[in-house]
Amino acid sequence: MLEDVLIAPSILSANFLELGSELERISSADLVHFDVMDGSFVPNLSFGIPILKQVKKATELPLDVHLMIEHPDSLLDDFIDAGADYVCFHQEAAPHAHRLISHIHERGCKAAMALNPGTAPCVLESVVGDLDMILVMTVDPGFGGQAFIPSSIEKVREVRALCDRHGVAPLIEVDGGIGTANAAAICEAGANVLVAGSSVFRGDYADNIQSIREQARQGISRQA
Ligand code: DX5
Ligand code: ZN
Repeated sequence: MLEDVLIAPSILSANFLELGSELERISSADLVHFDVMDGSFVPNLSFGIPILKQVKKATELPLDVHLMIEHPDSLLDDFIDAGADYVCFHQEAAPHAHRLISHIHERGCKAAMALNPGTAPCVLESVVGDLDMILVMTVDPGFGGQAFIPSSIEKVREVRALCDRHGVAPLIEVDGGIGTANAAAICEAGANVLVAGSSVFRGDYADNIQSIREQARQGISRQA
């Protein structure tokens, strides 16, 4: 199991007119989280393949592409060609999860599956051994800056227990309303990849990343 935490700033909260320098300002992070929204799976639109290509050129950090889209199979190759390192699709949008995961792996990328707050961890039972990362959404996806759903902490604990029962240790990522106030508790429950948008892209981004990282490490050190 990963002993440390990975911090993944969500550039949904960045200043898009200054994206190059915004990426430089988060260079102390571990991943860049790239939120793709289609206006159908979630009630919002964000950015897509042409922007991902530009981001790939502007950072050396791995790109964590979170596809909040219907029919993720239809655009998978385009996102991989554009530079995705982690490809995360939503369980709720993917009736053929095994096929998707296999394809992501055949293309040399890491496969992740996201669960909305209303989706029970049991849907992981038959795919958990194939996943590199599980994304537990801690808000209903669609917007940055929403309030963290407190019951997510127990859900992360359940997901970690499910992985333990299967004898596997994929990364467990959380996304939505994450910051210094909850990083320790969510990591103590078992998360080890923290997406953070609005709590990073304000004031001094490097300081924010460091503060979240310190809280997260405290939580990890308290893990049972
Ligand atoms: C929400 C997105 C998140 C979002 C997080 O639908 O998946 O990645 O940008 O933003 P904050 O950290 O502000 O909740
Ligand atoms: Zn996201």
